[in-house]
Amino acid sequence: MSASASHITSVLKETRSFPPPPRFAAHAHIRSLEEYEELCQRARENPEAFWADQAERLHWFQRWQQVLDWKEPHAQWFVGGKLNASYNCLDRHLNTPHKNKAAIIWEGEPGESRILTYQTLHREVCQFANVLKALGMQPGDRVTIYMPMVPELAIAMLACARIGVTHSVIFGGFSADAVADRNNDAKSRLIITADGGWRRGKVIPLKDNVDEALTKSTTIEKCIVLNRCHQQITMKPGRDLWWHELMAQASADCPAVPLDSEHPLYILYTSGSTGKPKGILHTTAGYLLGTSLTHEWIFDLREEDTYWCTADIGWVTGHSYIVYGPLCNGATTLMYEGAPNYPREDRFWEIIEKYQVNIFYTAPTAIRAFIKWGDKWPNGHDLSSLRLLGSVGEPINPEAWMWYHTVIGKEKCPIVDTWWQTETGAIMIAPVPGAIATKPGSATRPFPGIIAEVVDRQGRPVPDNTGGLLVIRQPWPAMLRTIYGDDERYRQQYWNQVPHCYFTADGARRDSDGYIWIMGRVDDVLNVAGHRLSTMEIESALVHHPKVAEAAVVGRPDEIKGEGIACFVTLVGGVPASDELKKELREHVAHEIGALARPDDIRFTEALPKTRSGKIMRRLLRDIASGRETVGDTTTLEDYSALARLREEEA
Ligand code: PRX
Repeated sequence: MSASASHITSVLKETRSFPPPPRFAAHAHIRSLEEYEELCQRARENPEAFWADQAERLHWFQRWQQVLDWKEPHAQWFVGGKLNASYNCLDRHLNTPHKNKAAIIWEGEPGESRILTYQTLHREVCQFANVLKALGMQPGDRVTIYMPMVPELAIAMLACARIGVTHSVIFGGFSADAVADRNNDAKSRLIITADGGWRRGKVIPLKDNVDEALTKSTTIEKCIVLNRCHQQITMKPGRDLWWHELMAQASADCPAVPLDSEHPLYILYTSGSTGKPKGILHTTAGYLLGTSLTHEWIFDLREEDTYWCTADIGWVTGHSYIVYGPLCNGATTLMYEGAPNYPREDRFWEIIEKYQVNIFYTAPTAIRAFIKWGDKWPNGHDLSSLRLLGSVGEPINPEAWMWYHTVIGKEKCPIVDTWWQTETGAIMIAPVPGAIATKPGSATRPFPGIIAEVVDRQGRPVPDNTGGLLVIRQPWPAMLRTIYGDDERYRQQYWNQVPHCYFTADGARRDSDGYIWIMGRVDDVLNVAGHRLSTMEIESALVHHPKVAEAAVVGRPDEIKGEGIACFVTLVGGVPASDELKKELREHVAHEIGALARPDDIRFTEALPKTRSGKIMRRLLRDIASGRETVGDTTTLEDYSALARLREEEA
């Protein structure tokens, strides 16, 4: 579906509602619906005053002169202010009782455990910042980070932030080509990696991937390598440097540089509907404010909490809710390196018991896997420390929600279903848990200061309980500032779809209580296991293969991953179709993009159904891929027999 179709039929009917448990609400940051509504009202009447009040939570080297400078579609927040994200996450905790509090509790997949206090984390970050400086990194330079889930990943990010270097973290599951593309797009000068990382008992060969990527990266001068797994790797003289050797010589004295509020903190690549990935740019002050405030209010953070977000730092969830939000709040954030089912299906529950985790934030795809693995795994552990559960990344189906509520939360933990995006930087729609009753499957209501609405293509609100486009009406501090190197695309994709609104590309419905129900993407982006993948990118990876003439990729329902990847492929003349070739193509896509993009189904076909203007009719392919009868209009179909043949092949 495209943004032009603004009315979407909503079929989900869910009437259960769970009020905040009174004992939870009594101690919450925001304790009642009245309090929440008052905050929303205040923010609506005077957004700048509201955000300025909240910005007092950050440490400023110099105060701002203007809260917001908005020239659609460009926002500058806290103009004239100076601060440093690394200082906010570390230094300012050092003269407080947080000094010796655990900042990061880390568990490696093979079972090691490491605890870094705010003071020890600060020291390592300072040292590594000096390493970067010694290699000539300057404020504004870009550095790529491609690492496993180890504390050094957070250390590298905070060291960049400390000296004003903009980091670009790439998920460790991406392939060499994906790394090379992102290096070139960001024009990174340096890459930080590891020999490997552990995943399900095997080593992911990160350094080998980097070696391959660097043959195609035009701007990388140096490569820093952490020795995580003691792998046999090649170190290229003059280019490759060992992390531990550099750190051994580095001083721990490195004052944080006062940076402009709008200094670029990081670039994070995400899939869009057309062409290459988009480098989403986030800046310093607004992003830190958004992540720290939402982290405190939505997770209802308490001083003594052990907080665990199971995301990978390679995605935005890890940036905002493992690193920046929690550390800015002086929280204890848990990081786990590996897979949820290694060595057994109870690894997460074992970790919760071992560290007495209080807040647990994971994704629906993981929850669906837990359900499949069976209740005996969580039931075999003491989960009584948990007091709040969170969900992110895709719509959570009510069955999964109820299972989470009952089996993990023992019916006493509120569930915060948090809707947001790489672009929004921080959570936008979620229950503030002491104030808002939850409904299984709904992200509930917008965060105070966020004006989220469901509208038609002209920006007019659609009636309650009618599907429409989810938009945000006003700028917010943690919003993306642009697409790195492509401001026109930023303008087009986010601000030119619905007049004077930020377009989320999600469909949604609002119910008569004002609750928002997300209905999924309306563009050609798949949501596979909570991660965005562009159908275009998978198609171009397929067409890159010498035996493929044309390819169309669509999503189809998948019990665990939410959406599976179905590919329709026409082969170059004379090439015979075979199961071996299917396998080869699946591996080819995994190699070009990463294992996450490995197709679930490949179907060979002689022709793809197209409109007269040559557009592939994806709606039809989606119907076929998911085994549905084709409904709706097929009159624009150029070659009706293509559809009939696809159906025959299906049979
Ligand atoms: O479609 C929505 C879905 O994930 C998209 C954003 O993906 P990404 O930028 O990779 O960020 C994921 C983590 C924030 C959204 O446009 N999505 C995310 N959270 C939810 C969701 N869909 C429904 N409910 C959610 N809680």
